[in-house]
Amino acid sequence: MAQKQILLIVGGGVAAYKALELTRLLRKAGVGVRPILTSAGAQFVTPLSLAALAEDKVYSELFSLTDEAEMGHIQLSRSADLVVVVPATADLMAKAAHGLAGDLASTTLLATDKPVLMAPAMNVRMWEHPATQRNLATLKADGVAFVGPDEGAMACGEYGPGRMAEPAVIFEAIMGMLNGEAERPLAGRRAIVTAGPTAEPIDPVRYLTNRSSGKQGYAIAEALAALGCEVTLVSGPTALSAPAGVKRVQVETARQMLAACQAALPADLAVCVAAVADWRPANEGAVKIKKTGDAPPALKLVENPDILATLSAAGPDRPRLVVGFAAETNDVEAYAQAKLARKGCDWIVANDVSVEGVMGGDDNTVSIVSAEGVERWDKTAKSDVATKLAQRMAKALA
Ligand code: CTP
Repeated sequence: MAQKQILLIVGGGVAAYKALELTRLLRKAGVGVRPILTSAGAQFVTPLSLAALAEDKVYSELFSLTDEAEMGHIQLSRSADLVVVVPATADLMAKAAHGLAGDLASTTLLATDKPVLMAPAMNVRMWEHPATQRNLATLKADGVAFVGPDEGAMACGEYGPGRMAEPAVIFEAIMGMLNGEAERPLAGRRAIVTAGPTAEPIDPVRYLTNRSSGKQGYAIAEALAALGCEVTLVSGPTALSAPAGVKRVQVETARQMLAACQAALPADLAVCVAAVADWRPANEGAVKIKKTGDAPPALKLVENPDILATLSAAGPDRPRLVVGFAAETNDVEAYAQAKLARKGCDWIVANDVSVEGVMGGDDNTVSIVSAEGVERWDKTAKSDVATKLAQRMAKALA
């Protein structure tokens, strides 16, 4: 994606602050962002924030001799693969629908020969006004694509349609338009991915956990999202940041992880990568357990729910493809076959953790075990395992 370039027009609305997060997501994904900030937009976000996140100059004046000398406004309008308007205010939509060209943003929209995506944001009455709806119909007829608006509570205190789509959703729409849907075989599909360890409290200050880094699960969530999938990443405590375009739900305990997975149903895919603690302390102390000078307290454990087995047995809600992981040090494939049957899932990705550097490292050596047999993959980067696995899942769902 390194060579892809967006021309990002930031209009004047409260939602302009979300354009900053969108810029961050796009840059993280290797997409170039060249910002145009309207004078109204500059009332909400500063050119400096936008330039810093975009790592590019911010254009705002139509009649700027410096800008025209660097890059004429016609050239600017054609320098990108896609023009994105975030937020698309009622005013910008009206100007674009009527072909007005009184400022840099509207001139660019009139002069461009590139696809245009708008993310509208405005008060519900402004959105529902016949004038805006007429402009919307005109712009759609002209081939402009739209993402949102959502329905919800708005900054003005009212409720209804008009709230701008979330940056992650706009990001997905942009990637869809840049990549072409053919390269996004999981567009319209939903996946749940569990990742990281769980932490099981003993008392308010102590807990039981394990050394899972979450890297493999996060890489899988990212790879699925890159194929267009809508991903809910249910994550235990990790040091990782959420991959672009992925909805992350952070949890601590196995029971919270299960509840978050069930709340994310229905889904087409479930991939359980989390290292869920098999047991938790039977009674969580309400207050910190103190030393008494007597024998140390006995830690009584009870078994945690099995998330993979529960999702595999979810009845009509069962995802079409349920995938589990198995970390083994010996008899990897035999144990994986047994786990496949015991958990009721469709594939087990068996992980040979006896190979040096797998735990917490960046490489992995895996076999895919399913009813069809065993497929061995050579040692490779966890991100490559994720990409290959995502592609294989897309094929299985096709
Ligand atoms: N898993 C889960 N919920 C649990 C335990 C495990 O979803 N409470 C999932 C993991 O995310 C992984 C798979 O089940 O996909 C691992 O199975 P598990 O039986 O926990 O593996 P091991 O701990 O290796 O089991 P064993 O002790 O039988 O080797």
